[in-house]
Amino acid sequence: MTLTVPDGAPASGRAALPYLVGESPRMLEVYGVMAKIAHASASVLIQGEAGTGKELIARALYENGPRRGRPFVAVDCTAIPDGLMESHLFGHVRGAFTGAVATVPGVFSRAHTGTLFLDEIGEMPLHLQAKLLRVIQTREFTMVGGTQPQHVDVRIICATNRDLRDSVRRGAFREDLYYRIAVVPLHLPPLRDRKEDLPLLITHFLSGFAAAYGRRIDGLTDRATRRLFDYSWPGNVRELENCLEQAVLLAEGPLLDVAHFPSLAGRFPYPAAGSGAPRLPLRELEKWYILDTLQQVGGNRAHAAKILEISVRGLQYKLRRYVQEEGSKARGGRRASPRLSPLQEPRNGDGSEARPKSA
Ligand SMILES: Nc1ncnc2c1ncn2[C@@H]1O[C@H](COP(=O)(O)OP(=O)(O)OP(=O)(O)O)[C@@H](O)[C@H]1O
Ligand SMILES: [Mg+2]
Repeated sequence: MTLTVPDGAPASGRAALPYLVGESPRMLEVYGVMAKIAHASASVLIQGEAGTGKELIARALYENGPRRGRPFVAVDCTAIPDGLMESHLFGHVRGAFTGAVATVPGVFSRAHTGTLFLDEIGEMPLHLQAKLLRVIQTREFTMVGGTQPQHVDVRIICATNRDLRDSVRRGAFREDLYYRIAVVPLHLPPLRDRKEDLPLLITHFLSGFAAAYGRRIDGLTDRATRRLFDYSWPGNVRELENCLEQAVLLAEGPLLDVAHFPSLAGRFPYPAAGSGAPRLPLRELEKWYILDTLQQVGGNRAHAAKILEISVRGLQYKLRRYVQEEGSKARGGRRASPRLSPLQEPRNGDGSEARPKSA
């Protein structure tokens, strides 16, 4: 089952506009609900594991609804320190606290008449959940340090990778707020439950990355296709996207093979102390640890490099070496092809470094 990239496949990659790929029954169900609710102003709660496309769906709802062209403001509730969250959401008036030298509007003001996307809503502290509930109920909020309540008209779309009902049971999330934001609950399936979408997703991403990096990619070998289908994709579509980007960068020719997917290599057979099994070279341990870390973060190299406290460039260097080693193993232990220099960066025709446009 060799997978080929058809000529003229949409080269959208990480296009600016939402481009939803997938025709599995589970995704058709999601599109069906979306079609029914895009035109309403009801709050939507998008639930799904990391990397399943929650933000993409939120943007697609916005793009296909009557508030298109109005503001779309996204807030990552995990990215804002607890102490700054209230002012970030509702804004503050001049003199509200030390350092508040000017009146600054919050995201509710900025999203007025449009859509407010509250990402990772499950991480919002309880005292702010109470304030959020009040805005949803009254359509009014007050800036930090202010006295005048302000009217606001926003459609609220929330996303979470937690089971919020469980958070409610544990007392970490307000039940009344849950019912307010989950008027329409939308569950995104993990990629392992819709593997029939893999061919479409793979060709979609490959044609995007091939175009972005100025490469010709014809497809995947049987072995590589099988490896992609056998894998469980804990990091979902994002992990798949990252793996394919990595493979396009690592490939020397137009066909992608297993060696170009080093982060999908098998688990390290760690010999337990006292088991009598032969110890392995330190280099092998490092390789396993790096690939395992990459896998844990859904293939995000910048994130993996940060965890490992090495540079992204250093990580890239090691990954390329692994490809050489795998390639050499596949050729029966012959020396790796000298054509691939580990330090060689992908280049555009003009010699500048190629970079994909990321959303
Ligand atoms: N159905 C899809 N079609 C095309 N691309 C997709 C699809 N689903 C997800 N993606 C892509 O996968 C990546 C992850 O999607 P997104 O950021 O929306 O996921 P998420 O659920 O919000 O992830 P996280 O929980 O990590 O924030 C994005 O680059 C997105 O464009
Ligand atoms: Mg997200």
